[in-house]
Amino acid sequence: MTQRLTIIGTGYLGATHAACMADLGFEVLGLDVDEERIARLSAGDLPFYEPGLEPMLRRGLASGRLRFTTSYGEAAGFGDVHFLCVGTPQKAGEYAADLTYVDAAVAALAPLLHRPCLVVGKSTVPVGTAARLAAALAGAAPAGGDAVLVWNPEFLREGFAVQDTLHPDRIVAGLPAEQGAADHAEKLLRELYAGMIGAGVPFLTTDLPTAELVKVSANAFLATKISFINAMAEVCEAAHADVTKLSEALAYDDRIGGRFLGPGLGFGGGCLPKDIRAFMARAGELGADQALTFLREVDQINMRRRVRMVDLARQLLGGSFAGRTVGVLGAAFKPNSDDVRDSPALDVAASIRAQGGRVTVYDPKAMGNARRAQPELDFGESALDAAAGAHVVLLLTEWAEFRDMDPAALAGAVAERNIVDGRNALDPERWRAAGWNYRALGRP
Ligand code: UDX
Repeated sequence: MTQRLTIIGTGYLGATHAACMADLGFEVLGLDVDEERIARLSAGDLPFYEPGLEPMLRRGLASGRLRFTTSYGEAAGFGDVHFLCVGTPQKAGEYAADLTYVDAAVAALAPLLHRPCLVVGKSTVPVGTAARLAAALAGAAPAGGDAVLVWNPEFLREGFAVQDTLHPDRIVAGLPAEQGAADHAEKLLRELYAGMIGAGVPFLTTDLPTAELVKVSANAFLATKISFINAMAEVCEAAHADVTKLSEALAYDDRIGGRFLGPGLGFGGGCLPKDIRAFMARAGELGADQALTFLREVDQINMRRRVRMVDLARQLLGGSFAGRTVGVLGAAFKPNSDDVRDSPALDVAASIRAQGGRVTVYDPKAMGNARRAQPELDFGESALDAAAGAHVVLLLTEWAEFRDMDPAALAGAVAERNIVDGRNALDPERWRAAGWNYRALGRP
């Protein structure tokens, strides 16, 4: 029998998972407590930018296999499998993750579960959460032990969300301790992901805490890799060496590998920064805080890149931003996304503004979100517009349109030809040949 799926929480993770599972032929009902979001999704209007996702959403709606609701009653009646995809942001003023949304979703759903079903956690949660939720579910669901909780972490990257969902590197299934429930849950998950498993995607079964840890340790490793190369950038700056050459040379060692070894302004976004902080907080609760003290360093190296960027720009302007004009290219935390959560680019723009600079920002997709997050900044209509009259231009998010910019065309717009390449995305020779004073993080 074909399983009917509900997706609880329709942010990046949930909306993508819903559209992809409908595309794979399942009947899918997406649920969110945000009525406006549900109205937009139901109308085929994706509330965020993600390449390839909106056509898939519309295809799902048109097929009749994909629908959205705000009603837990409808979801509980509909679903054989309920995916938990709600957010776990950082708590205000603390490192720990805020589990309000996860707890609220289980509290709302559980009392309505009258028949056997699988609840599949996909949200990124502190280790131990799944076991706690499993107990809450069994206690509150009329179906009792027939409502089974598993953990199936999601590793999708913004900008590649569809591809990562349909062609994941691996599928991790954290199963309950009780053997009968575990066997049943594994069988259901294998059916759901049969196409991917058939195409060779590894399917790993673990216990609940290991599955939760796979996700956060993967993000901790990626963050560490980025901060490692950015620490090398700091040393390169002190030693007058070139971190881009260093990174290129390291990458040929396939034990090291070149991915996530890109030096620059560092990581931001809705995942890496808050996930490493929540991981440290959880390790502390478990008495294992020493094991993760290095992540504090990873976080600090990352945050220092933003300060260094501001310092470099100020230095190019002779020591002060007062009365000077700064053109900022990029606001999203990375290209191909309109997400500005913990964006290094927007953080740098805001600090320069706070230090008295006149800052004009342009981003191909993140203008609406950037305006809402930092309303005191000025915004341009294009890269040329943001650079108009600038004493220094900062490239802070490496969108293709910025990488491909013509230095001569930009030269016509600015007051002074100073550029700082915060992402090591430009060719220094080309910019210098066009008369620019080119500076970058980690390069002489
Ligand atoms: C990340 C993980 O990759 C994904 O597996 C997880 O599920 C969610 O978190 P995402 O936040 O979409 O995904 O972004 P990612 O592509 O990982 O980039 C994170 C940040 O690192 C960006 O700000 C990016 O600019 C920065 N980065 C990445 C670098 O500074 N250097 C690099 O070499 C790579």
